[in-house]
Amino acid sequence: MAIQWFPGHMHLTRKAIQERIKDIDVVIELLDARLPGSSANPMLAELTTGKPALKVLNKQDLADPERTALWLAHYNAMPGVRALPLDASMTTPAKALVAACHELAPNRGGMAKPMRVLICGIPNVGKSTLINTLKGKRAAKTGDEAGVTKTEQRITIADDFYLFDTPGVLWPRIIVAKSGYNLAASGAIGKNAFDEEEVALELLDYLRQHYASALEARYKLTGATTQTDEELLADIGRKRGALQSGGHINLNKAAEIVIHDFRSAVMGRLTLETPEQFAQWLAEGKKMDAERQLKKDAIEMARLIKFKKVPRPEQPRHSDAREAEQRIDGEESPAE
Ligand code: G4P
Repeated sequence: MAIQWFPGHMHLTRKAIQERIKDIDVVIELLDARLPGSSANPMLAELTTGKPALKVLNKQDLADPERTALWLAHYNAMPGVRALPLDASMTTPAKALVAACHELAPNRGGMAKPMRVLICGIPNVGKSTLINTLKGKRAAKTGDEAGVTKTEQRITIADDFYLFDTPGVLWPRIIVAKSGYNLAASGAIGKNAFDEEEVALELLDYLRQHYASALEARYKLTGATTQTDEELLADIGRKRGALQSGGHINLNKAAEIVIHDFRSAVMGRLTLETPEQFAQWLAEGKKMDAERQLKKDAIEMARLIKFKKVPRPEQPRHSDAREAEQRIDGEESPAE
């Protein structure tokens, strides 16, 4: 089942970004280096179209360094985009961030034209940690400041460099199913919005194909590549003592262990997607979404035809339309 999570406060953040964006010179998007494609917010891309963008691959200490290099090259090849790796152990990240922003918006700087940067990212990507490091001793006071909304913070990095922070936000509909699972595995999605067993099975499916030796070493397994995901999860549960009464394996507990181990990188530094893989998932997600939309439109049209709101077309219709007509055949005419 697809994972979706867009609580109410995220609507407010979307509005705040929409209002702020016209005054922004550079957008910094904090991505999770373990899932750069899935942690890139398409809603944000839409809101910030045309703005120079700095992609920061955060938590690089948890990610596969070879794959981080692939993602950096991927982003750095895009016009108007720069990418940097980062992690919380870097105590002075401001220098690299400021330099990259000046590269992206060389016409900004100095008291007359201060650099105005918006920083965004999904929940739990490490934005507060970074902001706190950037703030250092320079107190950031916001909220009540004129022109700064309650959903954002303004941080003064230098006298001519302002950073507008926004709360972590996802997007209303996650159309790439694998992204939903990867986001859940990373900790970006609220615990009650996904099924841990389902997420762990997806995670194991990817890991056994791409990081089998890390998996086998962590859980002292052999033949991870030839097992089904379910067998693998059960095996891990058995090995790690996730048992319930009657000696049965507690699969939910086993799933929690797998997710926890991924988050804390005890299996090693792992990245759940490459640029090519993500591009393929995105194309598939878009295709499925377009098909879903076609079906929805066909049902709506069939309903309108049935209740004589529009004339029946003379041309032979698509199978979606015929299917939709059959589906609503039993519907009562709505009250006028
Ligand atoms: P947010 O504001 O974007 O929501 O994220 P926040 O800074 O609160 O960081 C979320 C978690 O990620 C924190 O762990 C934080 O310590 C960790 N974190 C942030 N940056 C890095 C990084 O570069 N590398 C690693 N390894 N971890 C990082 P936490 O306090 O343990 O919270 P939780 O994840 O257990 O909820």
